[in-house]
Amino acid sequence: MSATALLVHEHRQIERLLGALDRLAGQAAEAPGDAPALAPALAEAVALLRGYADRAHHGKEEDHLFPALAAAGLGPGEGPVAVMLEEHEVGRRELDAVADALADLRAGAPGAGEDLARHAAAYSALLRDHIEKEDAVLFPMADEVVDAGALAAGFAAADAAAFGPEGRAGWERRIDALVAAARGRASAPA
Ligand SMILES: [Fe+2]
Repeated sequence: MSATALLVHEHRQIERLLGALDRLAGQAAEAPGDAPALAPALAEAVALLRGYADRAHHGKEEDHLFPALAAAGLGPGEGPVAVMLEEHEVGRRELDAVADALADLRAGAPGAGEDLARHAAAYSALLRDHIEKEDAVLFPMADEVVDAGALAAGFAAADAAAFGPEGRAGWERRIDALVAAARGRASAPA
């Protein structure tokens, strides 16, 4: 197994989460009257993106992968690692904006559905592009230079802290449930 295989697996899960966010945010913009029904699923999408995509996934990259790359002479002050770190920060701010818009939507603020859809689309586009760069450029580079065994040990410790008693399986079941709920809503008759 390559050093970055677990991160690639998480990228596919994050893309599924982004698909659910895209669908739900689109519905909130189109039908603000549905906001009370959509709010719990949108809140779950934000919680999963914060916990799974940011804390667990970006956490492993920032605390383990990027330092291993730095030890091999790549970054973190410049080059691809600096770009990835900056994009993680921009993504955090954009996800906070999605959460703020969701709070406004729940409070019945006018225009909150459009705000939510706009920030969700910006976040989703940023993260999809970020993932593509990691898969195509950074991870193949990492697989050449980092020690897979040492990285796996760091990842296991980080996952235990990030996922807690639910474990990875519990978090990924929540992703499955959200994706199914978002699909069900999208295909439900009007
Ligand atoms: Fe990543």
